[in-house]
Amino acid sequence: MTRETWATRAGFILAAVGSAVGLGNIWRFPWITAENGGSAFLAVYLGIVLLVGVPGLLGMFVIGRRAKRNPVGALRSLSGSNRWGFAGGFLIFSSLVLISFYSVVGGWILRYFGESVVGLVTGHVRYFANPGAAFGAASAGLDAVAFHLVFLALAAVIIVAGIRGGIEIATKWMMPAIFTLLVGLGIWASTQSGAAEAYAFYLRFDVSTLQNNFFGLLGPAAGQALFTLSLGVGTMITYASYLDEDRSLPFDGATIAVLNTIVGVLAGLVVFPLLFTLGIEPGQTGTGAGALFVGLAGAFAQLPGGTLVATAFFAVVALAALSSAISILEISVSFLVDEYGLARRRAAGLVGGLVAVTGSVCALEPSVFGFVAGTLVDILLTVGLAVCLVFVGWVMGRDAITEFRNGAGSLGQTIATPWLFGVGVLLPIFLVFTLLTTFGVDGKIGFWPTVVAAVAVAIAAFVSLRSERSVV
Ligand code: TRP
Repeated sequence: MTRETWATRAGFILAAVGSAVGLGNIWRFPWITAENGGSAFLAVYLGIVLLVGVPGLLGMFVIGRRAKRNPVGALRSLSGSNRWGFAGGFLIFSSLVLISFYSVVGGWILRYFGESVVGLVTGHVRYFANPGAAFGAASAGLDAVAFHLVFLALAAVIIVAGIRGGIEIATKWMMPAIFTLLVGLGIWASTQSGAAEAYAFYLRFDVSTLQNNFFGLLGPAAGQALFTLSLGVGTMITYASYLDEDRSLPFDGATIAVLNTIVGVLAGLVVFPLLFTLGIEPGQTGTGAGALFVGLAGAFAQLPGGTLVATAFFAVVALAALSSAISILEISVSFLVDEYGLARRRAAGLVGGLVAVTGSVCALEPSVFGFVAGTLVDILLTVGLAVCLVFVGWVMGRDAITEFRNGAGSLGQTIATPWLFGVGVLLPIFLVFTLLTTFGVDGKIGFWPTVVAAVAVAIAAFVSLRSERSVV
């Protein structure tokens, strides 16, 4: 059977944007931005998206399009070494961890969307009465399990329909809908009384916070940048593996990053004015996963036209979450299809069955959820991306440059070599460094020793990987 491919270039770009745009932009981004002081965080985050995210994204594309296989098959076939297959296996494992909590949050969203629709019809929105209690009920226990399963089933149905007939068609409709609704919501939010204060918090560039806390911002900003660009578990490798023509990867990558960033910034322009209008100071509300739900639900409950706006808002978030969930599940599905010749339907059934269980654990156990959604995912993504980039730089080497240049314009030809140096050397060091700061190592041993430690870890990785290549 020939392997599936995207029908059009736009189809690939939209599917990748669909993957990138998700809960990360609308739920995680405002929350993390608020926790880290607003505009200063935004500045660091945008810098990391540009300098780490885009080159990293291109690294994933180069692996995927070169190998035309799932992450395990890709790392194995490009290196000619079985051991690299295990690194691919690590990515698949991480993707399953990721989807286990992601699907639970997707379930919360579906429930809020459903209750908003019911409210439009009956004039009574259940979660309006007591947003805090409503979130408590929605986010844990058997209800959360049930909605997680519905969300997962929706994603699986699209996966079963295939690359062209499912993912490509679905994202082609979903992306314009998301943009349109968000712009409308942003305009509505700008008319609310807290808008001015919110824009100041969010957009006024604040040099002093930046200077005082630059290194403290790096870890969360890097984590958010990887999360939002779907880097570190093999999503982008998998999506690029369905490309059949050599078009410009740098162009596509930049387009995807720009569109994703626009949605993230737009989401902030919707969320912050609502919170400020209600007098909820972001960052002061004990934040965490639920604060945004509680705060927004409270805002919708009090503002004129709130039910309609809530319906539109949760529709956006549900669509965005679904198109991302698909891209996470597709990694394992493509693995089973490529490596074991399973039919898509069976592969999706197997993966879905497994995630039904692991996600339910997250839904039932708040402590597991908290650990997985916070620290664990940050670590897995950072390690996963660093491993892939070292692979691109040190195992693929020249091949990576060739693949990068295929179909790229003249600018792409010129930047190929500096790009490879960046992804093979600078970015892994940076990623190890952020990992060390996540563990608070810099606090214990100081800044420069941490830099030295990061360089040492990176060199150790290069040395062991060089020998890996000579095995071939
Ligand atoms: N980027 C998506 C979001 O912002 C989530 C996502 C999809 C993801 N695939 C991923 C995150 C791979 C990390 C790795 O919601």
